[in-house]
Amino acid sequence: MSEEALPFSEVYVPDKDRYLEYYRKSIEDIERFWDERARELIWIKTWDQVLDRSNPPFYRWFKGGYTNINLNALDKWIGTSTANKVAYYWEGEPGDRRVISYYDLYVEVNRFAWALRELVGVKEGDAVTIYLPMIPELPVSMLAVTRLGGIHSVVFSGFSSSALADRIVDARARVLITADGFYRRGRVIELKKAADEAVKLAEDRGVRVEKVVVVRRAGVDVNMVEGRDYWYHDLVNEAPVKAYVKPVPRKSDDVLFILYTSGTTGRPKGIMHSVGGYMTYVYNVFKWNWDPRSDDVFWCAADIGWITGHTYIVYGPLMHGETQVMYEGAPDYPQPDRIWSMIERYSVTVFYTSPTLLRLLLRYGDKWIEKHDLSSIRILGTVGEPINPEVWRWYYKKIGGGRAPIVDTWWQTETGAAMISPAPGLSLVPLKPGSATYPLPGIVADILTPDGRKAEPGEKGLLVIKEPWPGMLMGIWGDPDRYIKTYWAMFSRPGDGVWIYYPADYAVRDEDGYFWLLGRADEVLNVAGHRLGTIELEDAIVSHPAVSEAAVVGAPDPIKGEVPVAFVVLKTGYEPSERLEEEIKEEVRKLIGPIAVPSRILFVSKLPKTRSGKIMRRIMIALLHGKPVGDVTTLEDPSAVDEVRSAIEEFKKLMKE
Ligand code: WT7
Repeated sequence: MSEEALPFSEVYVPDKDRYLEYYRKSIEDIERFWDERARELIWIKTWDQVLDRSNPPFYRWFKGGYTNINLNALDKWIGTSTANKVAYYWEGEPGDRRVISYYDLYVEVNRFAWALRELVGVKEGDAVTIYLPMIPELPVSMLAVTRLGGIHSVVFSGFSSSALADRIVDARARVLITADGFYRRGRVIELKKAADEAVKLAEDRGVRVEKVVVVRRAGVDVNMVEGRDYWYHDLVNEAPVKAYVKPVPRKSDDVLFILYTSGTTGRPKGIMHSVGGYMTYVYNVFKWNWDPRSDDVFWCAADIGWITGHTYIVYGPLMHGETQVMYEGAPDYPQPDRIWSMIERYSVTVFYTSPTLLRLLLRYGDKWIEKHDLSSIRILGTVGEPINPEVWRWYYKKIGGGRAPIVDTWWQTETGAAMISPAPGLSLVPLKPGSATYPLPGIVADILTPDGRKAEPGEKGLLVIKEPWPGMLMGIWGDPDRYIKTYWAMFSRPGDGVWIYYPADYAVRDEDGYFWLLGRADEVLNVAGHRLGTIELEDAIVSHPAVSEAAVVGAPDPIKGEVPVAFVVLKTGYEPSERLEEEIKEEVRKLIGPIAVPSRILFVSKLPKTRSGKIMRRIMIALLHGKPVGDVTTLEDPSAVDEVRSAIEEFKKLMKE
């Protein structure tokens, strides 16, 4: 952390004072600041009030305003030279390619929106679940739904049928958009099968999906249910060639979309984002992060199933008329240089990805990079987890050639877009490898100790946001109490009118005021830059008939940052075995998806618990990290610690082999 600040980039000459001056002005009067920022966008009617603070923490932005995000992402380009610009260079994993202009996208969105309205019956306010792989029909579907005033709920195509069913039921979605299948590591994943199972599971729980739209991607056989299932291409072909669907005016504080994320209970939370606030925040942050230029080729190598893709593959870049690269498959398929060869092929100027992907590609060795000309790159970005300084330096030198600043963006599903990150689009601050630098304009961030005192420089504490911002979540779908408890209860003092947003991240500020993000402060794992709830995992494991109890914690992993490891107590009559370990893993794959499968199941006869029966995960975490276990006086049975310790030693021995 005493790291010497990097002095320069060839494209951006850092000027910290200029940035801090802009920042200082932005927070002098945040309402005026955001009022000015929102005026850069197209609205059907401007707002009466910038920020409604009358019912905290249910803040409402641009109250009285009306808009539709399609106006800013799509319609505004029609009749300009951007209409003929490439919106997406898309590549399938097998190597098939599609080039889609802004005009093509506009036509396709209008035709699909027409079909959704006329043939499928989607209306304003309807929730539509989208379970699609990384194909152009995914952004088309999202835009078509929001054009009609509907609310999309995108479910990552790597989630299982059971996880999809949970999200369909929670959102009460009547319409599902999916695909026959898609490619992953040379295999076809049969998505429609999973979708069919999910529809059945949802129906058993009282939510009937009335219509299913199926995109033909992989050409595999699927079961189409008469009257319920429609081919996407049939629907679009029925729409007039020049169908025009007027974007439905939506209130600024209507819900634009829901996106589910894991929390500290077994049930995922439907994070709601607003029409006007999200649009305004994403538009501005995109500009600050990437300094968009007319000849850019922007590539965010995330999946649209996560918030990163919503913001930085769909809405942010389209609102700036960016040309993008979009890719369907695995990053190291068919060879470890897939990403680098695509950067070269499309002359990518801005590349944004996760530290996990960088660690994976770093391990394959530099020979895969050296084959390619990456000189088009002018900005690099990272997101999802803290980036280790060694990986940062490798990224900076090997991929950016020492020319491109690294924009390390700290944010969450709940925040809509980046919150703490460098802003080369405004004024770059000198970078320090591993630090996300300063809060973005309008963001009032601080670090507190657990008892609410301001942490000293160098003192580890908890990150907080002290003023509302337009990209903030509106709440949790169907669960206002959980919204308050999860994000506001920790530090707010409602009696004094003080409301403080709590993201549940550890952080520290150095002597220069730079923020360093240090990982989750709650019982949520960050696996490969994705959030996984430990309780959700434990619930899945316990649903195996042989399991009596389970505790899941994160073990350090050289590539994924963290991986789930499960301590499992079996019911009497069952013996630990490799087969049982596989079965339990399979159960997790079935109930959540492959991303959630624990790297190891460690069988123990008891778990360390307090006398009141609470599992002490902190003991297992300490042991996994080779640290002292600390105070164990509240333990019900101290011998549980020894058992966990020997299970971990065994596990570590296996890891080395
Ligand atoms: C959590 C949010 C935001 C899109 C990806 C993840 C961690 C995110 C960083 C970063 C350190 C980071 C935090 C955060 N995180 N970005 N640049 N440095 N940690 O979204 O699934 O909502 O997870 O990811 O712990 O709370 P998410």
